[in-house]
Amino acid sequence: MTIRAVVKGVGHYLPERIVPNSEFEQTIETSDEWIRTRSGIERRHFVAEGQTTSDLATRAAEAALAHAGLTADDIDAIVLATSTADLTFPSAATMVQARLGMTRGFAFDVQAVCAGFVFALSNANALIVSGQAKRVLVIGAETFSRLMDWTDRGTCVLFGDGAGAVILEGETGSGTTDDRGILATDLHSDGRHKDILYVDGGVSTGTTGHLRMQGKEVFRHAVEKLAETAHAALDKVGLSGADVDWIVPHQANIRIIEGTAKRMQVPMDRVVVTVQDHGNTSAASIPLALSVGVQRGQIKPGDLVVTEAIGGGLAWGAVVLRW
Ligand SMILES: CC(C)(COP(=O)(O)OP(=O)(O)OC[C@H]1O[C@@H](n2cnc3c(N)ncnc32)[C@H](O)[C@@H]1OP(=O)(O)O)[C@@H](O)C(=O)NCCC(=O)NCCS
Repeated sequence: MTIRAVVKGVGHYLPERIVPNSEFEQTIETSDEWIRTRSGIERRHFVAEGQTTSDLATRAAEAALAHAGLTADDIDAIVLATSTADLTFPSAATMVQARLGMTRGFAFDVQAVCAGFVFALSNANALIVSGQAKRVLVIGAETFSRLMDWTDRGTCVLFGDGAGAVILEGETGSGTTDDRGILATDLHSDGRHKDILYVDGGVSTGTTGHLRMQGKEVFRHAVEKLAETAHAALDKVGLSGADVDWIVPHQANIRIIEGTAKRMQVPMDRVVVTVQDHGNTSAASIPLALSVGVQRGQIKPGDLVVTEAIGGGLAWGAVVLRW
């Protein structure tokens, strides 16, 4: 008997304020044209003053619960991927738990920056497969606008805020790749690369800090490592790029997305792309893209989906699942 963690619902929430590239032309030396051609980003959403990561996460969770036809009482655990929790502690996950009125089960955050949702999915899968939880709410939520140095044109135009969520439920499968649910995961990190992507604040500095990035270096690692991890995850269950219906990549840069798809020999019409509308929302980007992909009618039950992401750490990984 094989237990599979099957997606039962998906949802997302984006803050109301939409900021087009042209808005940055007023404050820094940049252009809509530069941002579009280098990153594929056209606009992004930013939170309002006082709006927090747990606010966005709660809205996304409510949307996913409604989509699944479930309530918070049906959930055993919340795994929330974020690097921008409202406070140092408690976790944003426990704040969402309280907001949903969920008084049983357990909730915790996962911090793997832009790879956070892939790490969270893998953790939720392990909880389900090991029998520790039957239904897990997996959320990616971020307010990266709070980490921006608005004078650094190399970073501040690239990121956005948002949240997405999926509900996973344990079901008995046949053990073959025809099963719905998570089929394989592949996770990596290499702490030697800390200096190419980090936030220069935290409890050791007494400040929140700002995101610092060596864009070219991150780009180089991304294309190489993302294709590698996606192939490794597919290999574990004897599948290849040819079997993939949808790549749902981390949405950081259209050129990274295209480069990875090319290496996987998957055409761009089988890639869910939302980076133009959301920018890089870090751990929120994959669940946002999954939710939008379902809304657009791209991802359908039975489709083979590969998600892949890389971020600060470096941390990277991929998940193969049948929707
Ligand atoms: C950041 C990124 C878009 C820059 O693109 P690039 O083609 O590598 O551009 P470069 O870094 O070579 O910069 C080229 C020039 O544009 C300038 N530039 C940087 N940001 C700019 C902006 N917003 N507007 C205009 N010019 C800008 C640079 O200063 C540089 O000028 P210089 O040659 O006079 O020094 C790209 O490196 C990237 O996307 N990297 C990965 C980032 C990422 O995805 N991080 C998150 C991973 S989770």
